[in-house]
Amino acid sequence: MTTTEKLNQTIRDIPDFPKPGIIFKDITPVLADPKLVSELVDWFVDKAKEDKIDVIVGVESRGFLFGMLIADRMGIPFVPVRKEGKLPHKTVKYAYELEYGNATMEIHADALKPGQRVMIHDDLLATGGTAEAAAVLVEKLGAKACNFTFLIELSFLEGRKKLNSYNESVYSIVS
Ligand code: PRP
Ligand code: MG
Repeated sequence: MTTTEKLNQTIRDIPDFPKPGIIFKDITPVLADPKLVSELVDWFVDKAKEDKIDVIVGVESRGFLFGMLIADRMGIPFVPVRKEGKLPHKTVKYAYELEYGNATMEIHADALKPGQRVMIHDDLLATGGTAEAAAVLVEKLGAKACNFTFLIELSFLEGRKKLNSYNESVYSIVS
């Protein structure tokens, strides 16, 4: 079985969560399968090596899970992008539109060096607003958003289109 097939079989669909009509993609069964976790990290590490990545940026909160593992496996830094008000030191902020309302993301102002090659990682690509916000923050610090990686892509929401204006390298294991 391919990595994609294994991941597809392990993700659990939860109907009507967190609201009626939404099917939530639950990755907790994936986290409980250490062999699969290791295989998924390998998959992401290949993409990081292909694009000569120096730093992994993970998006709160589920982007922290694999983001940190990828960074650890490669022996490179991990940098968190967090929801507003969580990071203690001086930050750079970016406010963006959600389907309903808006949100602000932050990164520590000294977290990246100009010219560093960054992978932006999250569990899921939906509309792309969150990943795009992370890319804006990375570029505000003078680093380069070289690729985007996700476990899951909800392709019907066309988030990839939003990110392609940034970069062609958008990788998801399951679509
Ligand atoms: C979910 C998901 C992504 C984001 C994708 O996070 O984990 O981060 O939404 O949506 P978008 O592509 O439409 O921007 P959520 O806001 O539920 O927070 P969490 O990861 O902290 O649970
Ligand atoms: Mg998230």
